[in-house]
Amino acid sequence: MVRLKARISLLLFCSLSALAKEGAIPIRFEGALQESAPDSAPDFRRIRVFDPYERVEIEFEGYPLQAVLDHKLGASWRKLGPTHELKMKCQDGYQVSVPLSRILEHEALVAIRRVDKPGFDLLKKDVTPEKRVELSPAYLVWENIRDRTIRAEGDFGWPFQWVEASLQKIGEGDPLPIPRNGSNRSALRGYTHFKIHCMKCHSLGGIGGKVGPELHYPKNVTGYWQKARLVEWILNPASFRIPNGMPPLAPEHPERKKIARDVVEYLGRIPEKNGGRP
Ligand code: HEC
Repeated sequence: MVRLKARISLLLFCSLSALAKEGAIPIRFEGALQESAPDSAPDFRRIRVFDPYERVEIEFEGYPLQAVLDHKLGASWRKLGPTHELKMKCQDGYQVSVPLSRILEHEALVAIRRVDKPGFDLLKKDVTPEKRVELSPAYLVWENIRDRTIRAEGDFGWPFQWVEASLQKIGEGDPLPIPRNGSNRSALRGYTHFKIHCMKCHSLGGIGGKVGPELHYPKNVTGYWQKARLVEWILNPASFRIPNGMPPLAPEHPERKKIARDVVEYLGRIPEKNGGRP
């Protein structure tokens, strides 16, 4: 029902919103759920966060994410909380999907301006050497000063140069290879962790982000890297090779070593047939 409506209203909504007040929120949304999305842009707000890339507290200005989704998709996105995720794509090939339940439970802002200084950029201190990156048109930030859960997850769900968004059913749309039959629990957990921590930059058989190298085709990375070395690399890539554009895995996560081992276990148990050309 919702799906059918979504399809019917998609074209209509796109053309209406293009005529109306596109431009206030600089992201292309696909898949409006109803025609009667509120037409006034959501209120502008400020929020102070601990920035996971620059690693200091920064104040940003922009639109609350929940209100942006109400505005762009219609309020019924809220009912899809348990089953759907928001897929976001960036100019540089980075992509990330965040469950709607996380968006409903935590506070996020579609930032379009930094309050503390002119220019909408930041210093990425998680790569070696540090690198200044442009954030526009939009940067998604999360309240993580009071919210410890979000703080522990580091940069999960902080896309910058964010340009495109759509809703998708969890588990559909991004058919990341599932671990081989008979895989252990560690590999199964690794599958989930890979989606959160790695897929935004790396693809497996062509599925995933394009910032870092493909890790499964034509050879799976566990075929030419020792597993123990891979775990070390994930925890501290710059200890192997510099310059290095890969950030260490979630530096503040208390279980980061376990996550790294699970991810490597998963990488070693991807079925051969998923080795599609990227
Ligand atoms: C922000 C983007 C980003 C994230 C997140 C990321 N990587 Fe990387 N990764 C890169 C880049 C860029 C390189 C290339 C680094 C270089 O050699 O300078 C890389 C390189 C690698 C390599 C080395 C490949 C080779 O043979 O040289 C492996 C293995 C790897 N990443 C695995 C992972 C895993 C597993 C995760 C998740 C735990 C992850 N990466 C998260 C960007 C990322």
